[in-house]
Amino acid sequence: MSEKVIILDTTLRDGEQSPGASMTRDEKLRIARQLERMRVDVIEAGFAASSNGDFEAVKAIAAVVKESTVCSLARANDRDISRAAEALKGAASSRVHTFIATSTLHMEKKLRMSPEQVYEQARLAVRFARNLTGDVEFSAEDGYRSDPDFLCRVIEAVIAEGATTINIPDTVGYAIPELYGQFIRTLRERVPNSDKAVWSVHCHNDLGMAVANSLAGVKLGGARQIECTINGLGERAGNCSLEEVVMALKTRSDYFDLAVGIDATQIVPASRLVAQTTGFVVQPNKAVVGANAFAHASGIHQDGVLKARDTYEIMRAEDVGWATNRIVLGKLSGRNAFKQRLQELGVALESEAEVNAAFARFKELADRKSDIFDEDIIALVMDESVTAEHEHYRLLSLSQRSETGERPHASVAFAAGEAELHAESDGNGPVDASLKAIESKVKSGVEMLLYSVNAITSGSTESQGEVTVRLQLGGRVVNGVGADPDIVVASAKAYLAALNKLHSNIDRVPAQG
Ligand code: KIV
Ligand code: ZN
Repeated sequence: MSEKVIILDTTLRDGEQSPGASMTRDEKLRIARQLERMRVDVIEAGFAASSNGDFEAVKAIAAVVKESTVCSLARANDRDISRAAEALKGAASSRVHTFIATSTLHMEKKLRMSPEQVYEQARLAVRFARNLTGDVEFSAEDGYRSDPDFLCRVIEAVIAEGATTINIPDTVGYAIPELYGQFIRTLRERVPNSDKAVWSVHCHNDLGMAVANSLAGVKLGGARQIECTINGLGERAGNCSLEEVVMALKTRSDYFDLAVGIDATQIVPASRLVAQTTGFVVQPNKAVVGANAFAHASGIHQDGVLKARDTYEIMRAEDVGWATNRIVLGKLSGRNAFKQRLQELGVALESEAEVNAAFARFKELADRKSDIFDEDIIALVMDESVTAEHEHYRLLSLSQRSETGERPHASVAFAAGEAELHAESDGNGPVDASLKAIESKVKSGVEMLLYSVNAITSGSTESQGEVTVRLQLGGRVVNGVGADPDIVVASAKAYLAALNKLHSNIDRVPAQG
């Protein structure tokens, strides 16, 4: 029997640290349910002490997820650890994940602590956590750049205090596969009680090697937990991508000889859900989940695949969930069919009123678009007019005029709290005019960092347009996503969704603090 590698997904914690990727409680819940359906072993649901919003999100996820362990990050202090344990109280299975930096650079420049102080704090934090829960992970932040002698001392001490998982992050993505694998092996060989804990890898992708480093940590180093995110979401160049690392282990089991519990057919739905929720689109040539990952354009390849699929394909598209891209509902579908599809997609709307609002939006959409795909349904329920979460601004109507040789003009009506606002503006194009009209009333002063449009489903013009805008205001960066067959309307929705996030004003303590 092959040994098992535990998959810890940190999309909702480390992934969310990506500027603009912050998610609401309901969005996180939806993703957590999908991760559970995918049979992720551990879901890192957030960093409970960082904000009330994160605390509530961890608590809500702990209350509904039954099949996966739910985990919260905590700095190595009693307050953070107590908050994490408190948020996790309702979980069927829970883990507190505490961390402190151990590299000389981080200890001196960031923490301004001596190695002895860090050693003591790590030990006491794990002792405190172990008194609250039986499952404690300890991470040595910037572990890969730490002095191995010091790191071994810290690890030996925290295992003696009861840490059950030891994570060695390559926090800044500096590692090289062979060297990282060797580093993990050396630590395991030198720490006398290393066999009392599961060893874990956590790699960032700054040099594009996060997946390779994680695999080396497992193969050469003997780690048995991989920390990763859907679509490789994460700060800077992101984290190790779950879909790539899992499919590498499965596809090359002849080499790795390790088992993973992931249901790979849920990978593509998870990837779509995360992309649609965060507005971080997946590049077409991304391995496993990119739109072109299984597309064969060259005649030679097409011919080969038609004759024998394995001539050019090492994985089957349906095995990672591509087959779910099918027409699910249409104009004649009833409320029950719609509700059932929501359930199958793991979307739990909280009240009948929300189901009714979503169904009304579905009918509206089905009048304008004949084939409704799963992605359309996800976009529809993420529309704030359905969930009403953090909703302050809401689009009521939009009309715009554009004609060759004329300057485009837009009129927009939208709700702002209880008030109904009407605004007009012209602009370089109809989208520009619409957003300028909204801004003329809101006067937010935001800076737009990104505007992008994608077809939600097929590449055809019948698809809904999905617009992402990234706005910055006073150091905060948020993404807003809007979908509609009319991309001008989708743009206005996306802009208002981003303004709503700024309006909700969720403040967070940075995780790497
Ligand atoms: O990258 C990192 O070091 C982390 C730790 C907090 C686990 O995310
Ligand atoms: Zn990280």
